[in-house]
Amino acid sequence: MAIIEAQSLTYKYPNSQKPALQNINLKVEKGEFVVISGPSGCGKTTLCRCFNGLIPHFYGGELQGEIRVNGLNVKEVSTAKLATQVGLVFQNPENQLFSLTVERDVAFGLENLGLPPQEIRRRVDWALNLVGLSGLKDKPPFELSGGQQQKAAIACVLAMQPPIMVFDEPTSFLDPLSAREIFNIIAELHAKLDLTVIVVEHRLEFLTAHASRLIFMDEGKIVLDGKPREVLKEASESFSGKIGIPKVALLHRRLTLQGISLGSTSLTVDELAEPLRRMLHP
Ligand SMILES: Nc1ncnc2c1ncn2[C@@H]1O[C@H](COP(=O)(O)OP(=O)(O)O)[C@@H](O)[C@H]1O
Ligand SMILES: [Mg+2]
Repeated sequence: MAIIEAQSLTYKYPNSQKPALQNINLKVEKGEFVVISGPSGCGKTTLCRCFNGLIPHFYGGELQGEIRVNGLNVKEVSTAKLATQVGLVFQNPENQLFSLTVERDVAFGLENLGLPPQEIRRRVDWALNLVGLSGLKDKPPFELSGGQQQKAAIACVLAMQPPIMVFDEPTSFLDPLSAREIFNIIAELHAKLDLTVIVVEHRLEFLTAHASRLIFMDEGKIVLDGKPREVLKEASESFSGKIGIPKVALLHRRLTLQGISLGSTSLTVDELAEPLRRMLHP
């Protein structure tokens, strides 16, 4: 059974005419690492809100079709119950941090679950260790850098041990170096833990190498869905003006069109450089 399954999912926010999601059909299997991309306003965040029940329970509006998360019907199950299944990390970590110390922030959600103190302690230490923040646990979150704050926000969600983690543009407020660190942490968590990971992101050049699947959305619909290489190949042929295709994939395509045979679409600069080097220095 798929861990996330949406069937003919269509959604309209209250008082809006146009659906933000239109006829979404999506199956995500346990353990997948899915990257979702697409132009601003195409419905990525809205889809994430359906995964953890913020839609329809918090936003209201009109949700048609079906969505199930780990077997639970999102329309019928409370957001509290869904929060144990889906952890959502937002763009802006400041929205997720409000305590006087990093440690208190990570403990907060666990206290709400009513866990015993020694289990809370164990999970807080475990989560902070996984994101590399153990040394900063007594710091006030507002004193941390943006990248450290996002790591703290990830620890907050991780400590709840949900089987599914969803990251909605987790690096859009970060510099490229911190962004890369966050992507590495996400990839490491996916590899180490038994997690299903969904990342909404436009900086594809760092991320697609880790992903098992890439989805492009446009105007509330899923327009491409498949293995990253294949999706990037298709996207660089037909969608390049519209969505942020990594430069390396576009260059790969241009070189291929010039008659340089490079094999399947390169996901990273190293992958593209390798056959070129061999051509130049056979
Ligand atoms: N809270 C909201 N109320 C009404 N409309 C919204 C709300 N949030 C998003 N929308 C609209 O839904 C559409 C999809 O937005 P969103 O899911 O935020 O896109 P993305 O995350 O891909 O940028 C847009 O047209 C946006 O204006
Ligand atoms: Mg968004």
